[in-house]
Amino acid sequence: MQLLPGFRDLFPDDCARRNYILSRWRNVALRYGFVEYDGPMLESTELYRKKSGGELVGQLFDFVDKGGRDVALRPEMTPTLARMVIARGRDFRKPLKWFSVSQFFRYEKQQRGRLREFYQLNCDIIGEPSLAADAEVVALVIDALREFGLTAEDFVVRISDRDAWISFLKAKGIDAETKGGQFLQIIDKLERDSPESTGLKLKEFGLTTDEVREFIAHPGAHFERFDQLAADLGARGMEGFYKLDPAIVRGLAYYTGLVFEVFDRNGKLRALAGGGRYDNLLRDMSDGAVNMPALGFGMGDVVLGELIAETPRALESRDRWHQSAAEIYVVIAKEERRNDALRSIQQMREKGFRVDYPLSPAKVGKQFQTAEHLGARLAVLFGDEWPEVKIKTLATREEISIPHTELMEVLRRLSK
Ligand code: HAM
Repeated sequence: MQLLPGFRDLFPDDCARRNYILSRWRNVALRYGFVEYDGPMLESTELYRKKSGGELVGQLFDFVDKGGRDVALRPEMTPTLARMVIARGRDFRKPLKWFSVSQFFRYEKQQRGRLREFYQLNCDIIGEPSLAADAEVVALVIDALREFGLTAEDFVVRISDRDAWISFLKAKGIDAETKGGQFLQIIDKLERDSPESTGLKLKEFGLTTDEVREFIAHPGAHFERFDQLAADLGARGMEGFYKLDPAIVRGLAYYTGLVFEVFDRNGKLRALAGGGRYDNLLRDMSDGAVNMPALGFGMGDVVLGELIAETPRALESRDRWHQSAAEIYVVIAKEERRNDALRSIQQMREKGFRVDYPLSPAKVGKQFQTAEHLGARLAVLFGDEWPEVKIKTLATREEISIPHTELMEVLRRLSK
C-alpha cells in the first residue's frame, strides 16, 4: 500500500521537527496576548465556495458524506473562525486576539513547499479597525519567524494595500465593485503567469501590462497606510523586515485593505505566510447581523521547515530538531536486580525523567550501545555492586558508584 501523494508519514525525527515548529508558534502567539481556539476538520463545502473564492475552490478535498451533505476537509481557518465568531463572538471581550495551530488539506499538485496536508499557525484580531492592529499582526508574523533564529537577511514581509488597487481601477474608469475581484486575481498571478496571458487578461479591462507595471514601480501616494504601519513597526525596532510591494494582493476573495505575504530573501521558496484585513467577511457571512472588522495571517509549516533546514543561523537554535528517546537508560547487568531496577525506574519517571531500559535480558555491552543509540545522557547500572548502583555520564564516560537509596537525590543534582 502506498502513501497518497502530498501526504506525509511523520517518522520520529520528522515528528520532532513538526512539534518543534508547532510549539514555538504557540509560544510566540501567547507572548502577544493571543488565546488558542480550534474548529472542526470538516466543514460544509459551501463555506469555502462562497467565502474563500479564488484558486482555493479548485483545491478543495470535498466529497458527499453518508448523509448526502457536501463537505470538505478544511483548506484554511478563516471561514471557520468567522463562522465561530458570528455564532458566539458577543460572549467575548473585543478585540478578540485568537490563534490556532491546526492541520489543513488542499488538493494541490505536490511540489516543493506544497503538499496536500500541512499545518498552519493562524493569528487573527477581530473587532479592531485601527492600523495598530495591522502593525501588531505584522510584528507577530515577524517574531514568529525570528523565534526560529531567522533574521531580516533570511525573510521579508511584502506589504500592500488592496484599496490602492481599487483606487487605481477607479482612476481608470473601471467599476471596481463588479470587476475588482477578477482584476486582483490577475495581479495575484502576475509573477507566475506568462506576460502574454497577463496581457490578454488585462486587455479585457482596457488596460495594458505597462500601465500595471508602472503603478507597481511608482505607486505614488496610494500607499500612505504603509507609511503609518512602518512607523509603528519602526518603534519596535523592526525596520528591515518588511517592504512595500504593490504586486502583493493575495489570492483569497475576502481580503479588503492591507495585505501581506512573507517570502525567503533568496526568493527560492513559496510564501512562508500570508494575511491581511478582511473587514467585510463577518458582515457578509451573517447577512449583516454581525459587522466587525477583522485581520490576521496564516503561516505554513512546510516552507518554514525547508527554510530552517537550509539556514545555518536557524540550525543553531534547533535544540529540539532531533528527539532523543530517553535521557536515562537503566542497564540491568544482573537479572536478579530487575525488580530493584523497576522500582527505581518508576520513581524516576514519577519525577519527570524520560527513562528507558531493556525489556528482555541482554548483554551489558549491548545495553550500553542501546543507551547511546537512544541519545541518553546517563546510564544507571544495576548489577554486582548492589546495594550500590553506578551512574555513568555517556558523553564523558565518567562513573560514580552510590548507594541505591541516594539515586534520586544524585539524579536531581546531575540534571540541574
Ligand atoms: P494562504 O496564503 O492560503 O492564507 O496560506 C497561508 C500559508 O499556508 C502559505 O503562505 C503557506 O505557507 C501555507 N500553505 C498554504 N497552502 C499550502 C500547501 N498546499 N502546502 C503547504 N503549505 C501551504 C490563508 O490560508 C489565510 N486563511 C490566512 C489568513 C488568516 N488570513 C487571515 N487570517
